[in-house]
Amino acid sequence: MKRIVILISGRGSNMEAIVNACAAEQWPAQVAAVISNRPDALGLQFAAARGIATGVVDHKQHASREAFDEALAQAIDAHAPDLVVLAGFMRILTPAFVARYDGRLINIHPSLLPAFPGLHTHRRAIEAGCKLAGATVHYVTAELDHGPIIVQAAVPVQPDDSEDSLSRRVLVQEHRIYPMAVRWIVEEALEVSGNRVTHRRGESQLVN
Ligand code: GAR
Repeated sequence: MKRIVILISGRGSNMEAIVNACAAEQWPAQVAAVISNRPDALGLQFAAARGIATGVVDHKQHASREAFDEALAQAIDAHAPDLVVLAGFMRILTPAFVARYDGRLINIHPSLLPAFPGLHTHRRAIEAGCKLAGATVHYVTAELDHGPIIVQAAVPVQPDDSEDSLSRRVLVQEHRIYPMAVRWIVEEALEVSGNRVTHRRGESQLVN
């Protein structure tokens, strides 16, 4: 059984999708813990109600990014994870933290990377006149919102889309592709070579 630790900062709907898929599809894995940098993160309640260990490492209680990341790493390592999943975890991580989890740290970002790293992705996609938006699951590297791409979902931008309406449609796809990516990893179905991630049995890594 692979052990998964999920990091959240808020609502935790992607975490919920992973927890539900793990149980429903009987992955060879368990979500060992859900950890937040915010004590009031809504997702903690869902995780606790499912009997999953929860933890808080409050970034406001740490004087530096390094000190926070060290405390976070200790909280994570207490659960001996095979995979660490960033699911709406809104902190920039230090290179030392990223190196510690090299190859077993993944993230979801609400854009078609490498377009629109950072914040306000949907607003920026609309302002740029993009006809296609989406979401990306990728391995985490030291560069923010970069790293080998595991799966992407493409979502057309409608002429009358607002930031809200577009983000809602993208989120539906996030809830499809994030569990899919985690399952592929726990099933050891992926091969990584440089920036290229391929599925050994050729499953489509583009959802639309
Ligand atoms: C999701 O849309 C996720 O892609 C985004 O935050 C949201 C979290 O929602 N992540 C980032 O922007 C990371 N750069 P959730 O808490 O309901 O899963």
